Amino acid sequence: MAYTVPKLTDYSRAALDRAVSELLSALGNEASKVKDESEWKTFRDRWMARKNGVLAQVNDLWLKGAPKEVKREAGQKVNLIKEQVEQAVAGAKIRYQIPILPTARVNSEISEVDFQRDAFAKSGRVDITLPGIRRPIGAEHPVIKTMHEIVSVFQKLGYSVAEGPVVETDYYNFEALNFPPNHPARDTQDTLFIAGQQAKPQRERLLLRTHTSPVQIRTMEKMHPPLRIVIPGQVHRNDPPDASHSPMFHQIEGLAVDTNITFGDLKGTLDHAMKALFGSSVKTHFRPSFFPFTEPSAEMFVSCFICGGSGRRGAEPCRPCKQTGWIEILGCGMVDPNVFEFVKENGYDPKKVSGFAFGMGADRIALLKYGVDDIQLFS
Ligand code: DAH
Repeated sequence: MAYTVPKLTDYSRAALDRAVSELLSALGNEASKVKDESEWKTFRDRWMARKNGVLAQVNDLWLKGAPKEVKREAGQKVNLIKEQVEQAVAGAKIRYQIPILPTARVNSEISEVDFQRDAFAKSGRVDITLPGIRRPIGAEHPVIKTMHEIVSVFQKLGYSVAEGPVVETDYYNFEALNFPPNHPARDTQDTLFIAGQQAKPQRERLLLRTHTSPVQIRTMEKMHPPLRIVIPGQVHRNDPPDASHSPMFHQIEGLAVDTNITFGDLKGTLDHAMKALFGSSVKTHFRPSFFPFTEPSAEMFVSCFICGGSGRRGAEPCRPCKQTGWIEILGCGMVDPNVFEFVKENGYDPKKVSGFAFGMGADRIALLKYGVDDIQLFS
């Protein structure tokens, strides 16, 4: 039966939506049946005639009678309908003018895209007037996605997110993290210095931060203990780019300070985080290491989630873990009392509080997670 415009009495959103959708479905149906010029004219007039066309009736029956509160919304709906009708009328004409195509998208259940594909398959040609296949624009970068995942694991444990500047002073990047001036540990971080800083005292000189650890100090200066934070961010080092190095990369730092924080807390927290990130069957393993700002310090490994810890993938050696069955993921340790000394006045008396810290490279983790073998592909 031909569609007639109903008189609206119920102006609730649901009723309006239902009325609009019935109208549009009738429009699509009728448009799809237009096969020649004369049918098209009838179709056009039925929907667009100034007097008594469907559009005119919609205007009279839906808009004029609409209560004040819904006038705006009803107006928007009517505008949408008007656009759709105009498009359908124009489209119907183009369709019957292109005879090679199946004439109708008869079943309104079929999406425009399926219809187009179908038409293409049947005719071997394509109607270029049909709308194209819309592609969603962009996706999250794998490194950023990985960072979000890591941050959210810690947020669920009650950690907050802190951030700090990428251009940093020597004080925060080194001195307050217990790297004394001229200490050889500074050499392990090939720093990019900002030019023209020589006139300043060393601690004020600017550089590109080599790690996210300076935000530990910056946050402890601002917030009293207890503290639990994760710090995602960009860092720079003077490393020539190759498959596993990039002068800019990303780290995620963590810091927990409270009374009586122990190395056991560190191990438990990081073990949980690794299981949440890489799957509940991964094991963790800690080896002694050295960082100036933690004592004791450790490197943490996870059992290789690529080969399951066997070091082999079938007959092949497992490359990501270099056949060891273990992958190094992060550096960590108990906050060195010398670091607390720099923020002692803010409640961080090393005799009263203790804490652990950790830092990991997000790019490296993303490489492993997504099986990408060249960090340059991320830039
Ligand atoms: N900042 C270190 C680096 O970039 C990583 C690190 C090691 C951070 C131990 C920490 C930590 O917080 O406790 O190599």
